[in-house]
Amino acid sequence: MEQTFIMIKPDGVQRGLVGEIIGRFEQKGFTLKGLKLITVERHFAEQHYADLSAKPFFNKLVEYIISGPVVAMVWEGKNVVVTGRKIIGATNPSDSAPGTIRGDYAIDIGRNVIHGSDAVESAKKEIALWFPEGIAEWRSSLHSWIY
Ligand code: PPS
Repeated sequence: MEQTFIMIKPDGVQRGLVGEIIGRFEQKGFTLKGLKLITVERHFAEQHYADLSAKPFFNKLVEYIISGPVVAMVWEGKNVVVTGRKIIGATNPSDSAPGTIRGDYAIDIGRNVIHGSDAVESAKKEIALWFPEGIAEWRSSLHSWIY
C-alpha cells in the first residue's frame, strides 16, 4: 500500500490545527502509520529541502521550518500521495481551493501550514529521513470497509 510523508509546519502546530488536519486524513479513510512532534535543526531542514537549495526563498523556508515543533506523519492508503496533495491544496494559498487545508487555513506561501510529498519516490526518501527508526506495522480494521 502506498505511503506519503505529511508534515504540519510550525504555524499549523502553533495555531492549534493539528487535530483538524489529522481528522481530514482520517475521515478520508487513510491510515496513520507514523506520528511525532519534533523540532528539527537547521542541517536536517536543509536536507529535507535539499532540492530547493538554489531557490531564493531557501533560507527563509529553512528558518520557518526550524522556528518551532512540527508534526511529522506517515499516512497510508491507495493513491495517498496524489490524494494527500489534493487534501492539502495548492502550494500558494492564494491558488488553493476552499475546502482544502491551505484553502481554508492559509494566506501566505511562506506560512502554508503543511507539507506533503509530491511523488511516491520523494515520499520514500522523506519517510526514511524523518523516520529512520522505522514505523510500526499494523493494519486498520477499517480496511475491509474502505477497500
Ligand atoms: S518551486 O519553486 O516550484 O520548486 O516551489 P514549489 O514546488 O511550489 O514549492 C516547494 C516548497 O517551497 C515552498 N515555497 C516557499 N516558501 C517560502 N517562500 C516562498 N516564496 C516559497 N515558494 C515556495 C513551498 O511552500 C513548498 O514547501 P513544501 O513544504 O514542500 O510544501
